[in-house]
Amino acid sequence: MIKLDTTKVAPFVSAETINALEPRVTEAQKALEAGTCPGNDFLGWLHLPTSITPEFLAEIQATANVLRQECEAVVVAGIGGSYLGAKAVIEALSNSFQWLISSPRGGQEGANPTILFAGNNIGEDYLSELTAYLRTKKFGVINISKSGTTTETALAFRLLKKQCEEQRGKDVARKVIVAITDAKRGAARTCADKEGYKSFVIPDNVGGRFSVLTPVGLLPIAVAGFDIETLVRGAQDMEKACGADVPMAENPAAQYAATRFALYEAGKKIEILANYQPKLHFMAEWWKQLYGESEGKDKKGIYPASVDLTTDLHSMGQWIQDGERTIFETVLSVLEPEHTLLFPSDEENLDGLNFLAGKRVDEVNKMAELGTQLAHVDGGVPNIRIAMDRLDAYHLGQLIYFFERACGIHCQLLGVNAFNQPGVEAYKKNMFALLGKPGYEKETEAIKARL
Ligand code: PA5
Repeated sequence: MIKLDTTKVAPFVSAETINALEPRVTEAQKALEAGTCPGNDFLGWLHLPTSITPEFLAEIQATANVLRQECEAVVVAGIGGSYLGAKAVIEALSNSFQWLISSPRGGQEGANPTILFAGNNIGEDYLSELTAYLRTKKFGVINISKSGTTTETALAFRLLKKQCEEQRGKDVARKVIVAITDAKRGAARTCADKEGYKSFVIPDNVGGRFSVLTPVGLLPIAVAGFDIETLVRGAQDMEKACGADVPMAENPAAQYAATRFALYEAGKKIEILANYQPKLHFMAEWWKQLYGESEGKDKKGIYPASVDLTTDLHSMGQWIQDGERTIFETVLSVLEPEHTLLFPSDEENLDGLNFLAGKRVDEVNKMAELGTQLAHVDGGVPNIRIAMDRLDAYHLGQLIYFFERACGIHCQLLGVNAFNQPGVEAYKKNMFALLGKPGYEKETEAIKARL
């Protein structure tokens, strides 16, 4: 099980202060279970892991197998919650140099297709370069949008659908385009039904940023060749470990939520999620969306930031050590890397590092982590540590559910609705007004007057 260590918070907020939050945490847990919290029509994620059946996973895997057999590359089109979970898990589990490895690509027995992402930006160069790359590839598309109307994703899907049909013919395109969307509403659903695409439903009661354990995350992860059954098993075990019946002292999500809240109340308004494994970069991006979009409202909420260490010790490290003391740090630590590599000895020893020769590279990394933790605590930065035995599907499943559950609890301590995102509409309204979308005539006039 992943382990939470909050002992390095003690110099800043006492254990008594955190423990005193237990009644409020219990109340929050009960409200989640009873469905009496704000946004209670979006609580489908709460018992999602334990409700996933082997038959459902088999259906996802069967669809993934079709894409794996038919495609050298699969483009996952989606943004926000319809993108980051799959991206995070695939990055965490993939070889760091998957792009350059010239082993057989998808479309052949046992080979993994290249997974690409689109629909998460409006970069003309990005889309041009992506479509150019795909010109010589047998590719498929997973179109993911709960609303089915998101501009970024719809734009990418228009381009990719047309190109796929032109390159592979309509019949094959129908086989290698999959939709993951609402059961009834939205353009993605209408298109999937009209074209006869294989489709999966994003349940009404699961919001985008809580949807990684639905087909939104599971299908791309399975197409990439990773074990979704084990990922879900990890989440199921964590669902049990974080349940409302587990007392706060033994409940990692309750502990994390209470500790964050106590730190926030003590003036620590920014949380930096730090990792020491580059493969976790996108896990932090997923976490930022989960927490940022869930709790940043009503002029409240911890600002979720992230750093990749030790890389960023040579940039943001200065700020963390010495800048304004409004931050705390949460470190994601992987106890055992997948590979073993020893620090090499060098006859000349010009860099003076022969004292490390023969040690595992990970030992150096771990001492960097420990040294940094102590330095940051000395510098006034409270530290939470989340340790996972290995960076594998099982532990990632645990981590996902742990963060989701803690987020649900923390938002209630803050007094915000975790499950809406009213702030996201503001940019869309302005963008459509500026682009002259039909129905936005008044807004267009008003915004042009401001320019
Ligand atoms: O968490 C959320 O609800 C959002 O980030 C959405 O996932 C994101 O806006 C994409 O929405 P959709 O899936 O409707 O295209």
